Amino acid sequence: MAEVFIKVCPVLENQRLAERTFLMRLQAPEIAAVAKPGQFIMVQTGPGWRQGGPLLRRPFSLHRLGPSGEISLLYRVVGMGTRLMERMDPGDKLEVVGPLGRGFNLHLGDTQAYLAAGGIGLAPMIALAEALTGQPSKFFYGARTSDEVDAFLGLLGQASYAGEIIVISEDGLRFPKGMVTEPLAAALKAGPASIFACGPRPMLAQVAVLAREAGSPAQVSLEAHMACGLGACLSCAVELASSGRDEPVYARACVEGPVFSAEEVRW
Ligand SMILES: Cc1cc2nc3c(=O)[nH]c(=O)nc-3n(C[C@H](O)[C@H](O)[C@H](O)COP(=O)(O)OP(=O)(O)OC[C@H]3O[C@@H](n4cnc5c(N)ncnc54)[C@H](O)[C@@H]3O)c2cc1C
Ligand code: FES
Repeated sequence: MAEVFIKVCPVLENQRLAERTFLMRLQAPEIAAVAKPGQFIMVQTGPGWRQGGPLLRRPFSLHRLGPSGEISLLYRVVGMGTRLMERMDPGDKLEVVGPLGRGFNLHLGDTQAYLAAGGIGLAPMIALAEALTGQPSKFFYGARTSDEVDAFLGLLGQASYAGEIIVISEDGLRFPKGMVTEPLAAALKAGPASIFACGPRPMLAQVAVLAREAGSPAQVSLEAHMACGLGACLSCAVELASSGRDEPVYARACVEGPVFSAEEVRW
């Protein structure tokens, strides 16, 4: 495992972007200096369990890696840990462990990069988009609501991303209506590309099918429930496509992932 830090990090900003969706900036120079797009951190989201907080740290993708020693997280409030994060103010401190896991492989050769994000699966994709600057690319983003698309466009506007942007929303109010895999499928008809995807598992399963049909390599960032984040507890096991074997084969999303090749995974 590459260098991993345990740091108490000051919160610089904790801004609400859309319903239940927040952007948190943290000062974490050691982590920002070595982290790669697609890696994550484990966050102690509040006081320890003795004071009624969660016992376990929670995993969050590195959303952006700032040159000035900042990292940012894009998170959705779902349960106790993220509700505690939502209440944090600038100056509060969070203990984090990272960077962890295997990030995206950025060696693409001459191929065009297609980034596909669904909902909060956007989180690791902006750091990736920034790292791919100079590579021809298209960014496909699908959200439930048009407000989420607005928030996404704001985030991408602040990032150094120069590729094409294609957005779609399930509400169809101010943006085309549909799922993110629809424009992705249409674009792949023009020829293969290197696909990077993060989002709900059914979306990623569909991306895996589209990639196979188009003869395109695809890397997917998988969510799994994680207790330790360090490879010790096996709570994050992901079943791999294990052709020719009788027994199922598993990998740990926290160490061998969270980014996997789409064809490695049993969907
Ligand atoms: C590698 C990795 C990176 C992640 N990055 C992000 C990110 O950048 N932004 C973000 O908002 N979320 C991210 N997640 C999901 C995030 O870790 C969970 O939403 C968080 O742990 C929930 O904690 P909680 O205490 O608020 O909720 P809990 O009380 O722990 O859970 C509340 C509800 O959320 C569900 N849930 C909890 N953990 C997960 C999970 N890992 N996947 C799916 N459902 C879950 C539970 O089943 C439950 O229904 C990531 C997960 C992984 C594994
Ligand atoms: S979370 Fe413990 S092994 Fe992956």
